[in-house]
Amino acid sequence: MLKVSSPANIALIKYMGKKDHILNKPSNSSLSWTSDGFVTHIEATKNNTSAWEPLSGPYAIQLNEKSIDRFLVFWQFLRDEFQIKDNYLIKSNNNFPFGCGLASSASSFSALVKLACAIQPNHGKSLSELALLSAKGSGSSCRSLIDGWVQWDDSGVSNVSDIPYKNIIHKVVILEDSEKKVSSSQAHKNIQTSLLNTGRAERAEKRLIDLKSAFLSKDWQQAYQICWAEFKDMHALFETAMPAFSYYNDQTQLVLDKLQVYWDSHVDGPLVTMDAGPNVHMLFREDQASACDNILNNTLNGFKVL
Ligand code: DP6
Repeated sequence: MLKVSSPANIALIKYMGKKDHILNKPSNSSLSWTSDGFVTHIEATKNNTSAWEPLSGPYAIQLNEKSIDRFLVFWQFLRDEFQIKDNYLIKSNNNFPFGCGLASSASSFSALVKLACAIQPNHGKSLSELALLSAKGSGSSCRSLIDGWVQWDDSGVSNVSDIPYKNIIHKVVILEDSEKKVSSSQAHKNIQTSLLNTGRAERAEKRLIDLKSAFLSKDWQQAYQICWAEFKDMHALFETAMPAFSYYNDQTQLVLDKLQVYWDSHVDGPLVTMDAGPNVHMLFREDQASACDNILNNTLNGFKVL
């Protein structure tokens, strides 16, 4: 039996909108943190046919037929790329809830790439070639193959090593753990109907430059403001698409308000962002471990945080 695992990642500058919906070519560059606390595990055994099944664990994955198809179509693509002759039964699970804006496609598709590498260790592909193969399965998964801060742009996927913040503490306020109604792949299409989509790629590119410069000058507060503006920009696209859709639930705004109040009174706090889901992500510097405890035990007392 082969066992592999791969982490999720959380984007601060978002991949939203594609130049090519088949190849998953992004409309703009993105920047993320690879988060080893949120992981997909795969166990694979030789089988008569290619198949997927849930692996038992705390958060069983319930893939519908369409999602199983997408997973297996990508696996077939990888089998061709890696010249894998045998069929496998692939079992997987996550250590976090599935399909609710916690980047489960990123960890699961990158885990499949790692499985292909485990079956064919002499594949001869570079890390950035592997990342681009992963992007064909699910765009954001390409960033999960690389640790730390990762930039995905027209020139490929790479680690941004000069960002001075290492060992980020990533926490997610879980406000809903059922599967979202509009998948991210669908959202990438639907936002094209928003008038706010004009200029979206340029705004994201500008924020990427500004965010990296805020990081380099260790201006955490400026970084917080840029990240806030960025996820609000993405969610404004959703909410002004035609038809409009929203990932917020009745608790999302409350949590965002509480975090803003925390920032106002402490003039410090976590970077805050949201993916295509109702849950709220917080990224703390390593020297903010006690601020993190304070937020979990007081500001967000009663909320489920992973
Ligand atoms: C909001 O990578 O899930 O999480 O390429 O269609 O699989 P597909 O989309 P996906 O989109 C992720 C969108 C996002 C932002 C991000 O992770 O950058």
